[in-house]
Amino acid sequence: MNILFVCLGNICRSPLAEGIARHYAQEILPNLNVDSAGTSSWHSGEAPCIGSINVAKNHGIDISTLRSRKVSVYTDNTFDLIIGLDETNVRDLLSLGFEKSKVLKFGSFGLKNADIPDPYHYKDQTGFERVYGMIEHGVKNLLHHIRSQN
Ligand code: 4NP
Repeated sequence: MNILFVCLGNICRSPLAEGIARHYAQEILPNLNVDSAGTSSWHSGEAPCIGSINVAKNHGIDISTLRSRKVSVYTDNTFDLIIGLDETNVRDLLSLGFEKSKVLKFGSFGLKNADIPDPYHYKDQTGFERVYGMIEHGVKNLLHHIRSQN
């Protein structure tokens, strides 16, 4: 099973989702392959934003070695699930040509379909903690969902 998390820049939200999912998959779904990407190439090659690196570190997860890349319908079609962190990400994934059946919204996993807010412009760490909490909650629901289907 291969899952791909997608946000706009692939520096704040989706690297957090990748790190958290990889962390919890160790016990819940050890064969899960996790990756992340952005719908834009604005930050290609960059490390995650410092707020995301720090909030993950506070929870014992190291995402500092991840690097941003743009999603590609040609090379990323091998993923079983492609999960957009907000509604715009989902819409952009469909516009890029990903199969509708594979594209899901992160918020549909126990978050009342909420968008994961973009923390890029947050000035302090409080916003990142909130985003971390939402992503952790959604990831746990997602992993249990996948396990129940397989
Ligand atoms: P992300 O956050 O989509 O969670 O990685 C963003 C990062 C950068 C920008 C927007 C969102 N930006 O406008 O450069």
